[in-house]
Amino acid sequence: MTPPLDTAATESLLAFWRDAGVDACFGDAPVDRTHVEPPPALKAVARATASVAVTPDADDALADARRVSAEADTLEALAAAVSGFRGCPLIGMGARQAVFSRGNPEAPVMIIGEGPGAEEDELGQPFVGKAGRLLDRMLVEAGLEGRVFITNTVFWRPPGNRTPTAAEQAVCAPFIERAFALLRPKVVLLLGAAAIKSVLSTDEGIMRLRGQWKEWRLAEGAVSAPAMPTLHPAFLLRQPMAKREAWADMLSLSVRLEEIEGALTHGTQNCPKKG
Ligand code: URA
Repeated sequence: MTPPLDTAATESLLAFWRDAGVDACFGDAPVDRTHVEPPPALKAVARATASVAVTPDADDALADARRVSAEADTLEALAAAVSGFRGCPLIGMGARQAVFSRGNPEAPVMIIGEGPGAEEDELGQPFVGKAGRLLDRMLVEAGLEGRVFITNTVFWRPPGNRTPTAAEQAVCAPFIERAFALLRPKVVLLLGAAAIKSVLSTDEGIMRLRGQWKEWRLAEGAVSAPAMPTLHPAFLLRQPMAKREAWADMLSLSVRLEEIEGALTHGTQNCPKKG
């Protein structure tokens, strides 16, 4: 026996298909549904994304970033070069201003985060929001207050605080590398997955890499320093249980810095051990 028609359920099902874009029950010709053609909007997105990586514009912007960053002889000049730079795709996506750095230009510790958020965008300095206040408290407790130079992988706020793309990070990288070369920090702290991706060129997860010392070495100029990947303070605000690991990383950084400074003071840096 045919079950009675449930009109409400049928209407609801038809509404579901209509919302999904099905506006006819059959067509004039058979359709091969095994071949999935992306809708035009998705095709446009795919074209735009592909062009980010390969357009001559992106190459020009990268060349420009390398040139103007290399010309900067001080961190102050580098900050001015960032402000004058127009080649990052994030410019024009709603950011109010460039956010380059804050902290001590002679600091022994360089800290690299992901990218400016709303408060940073407003004030023009990195890590001045909630995550920054947590970072500052940790630095004070670790005895590193006033001993850090802080920057990000990108200098313009990504819309909606999304993660910066590889292309956006790539065009900012020459400025970060130049900052590293000018500052010559003794140790580097990398905050979160975006920072390790940009600086260490790895897709390995932050949970795997955190707490393990890496070496950040520039291709040119014999500049290198030990780098510690750790959890981003914004993540710690969402997952307070993870603070224990981040604190262990911070202490490891502070101990390593002490060892390096102690070795330099006593002239034992790079001296082979006797015996
Ligand atoms: N998060 C970052 O990664 N950087 C900032 O400057 C602020 C929040």
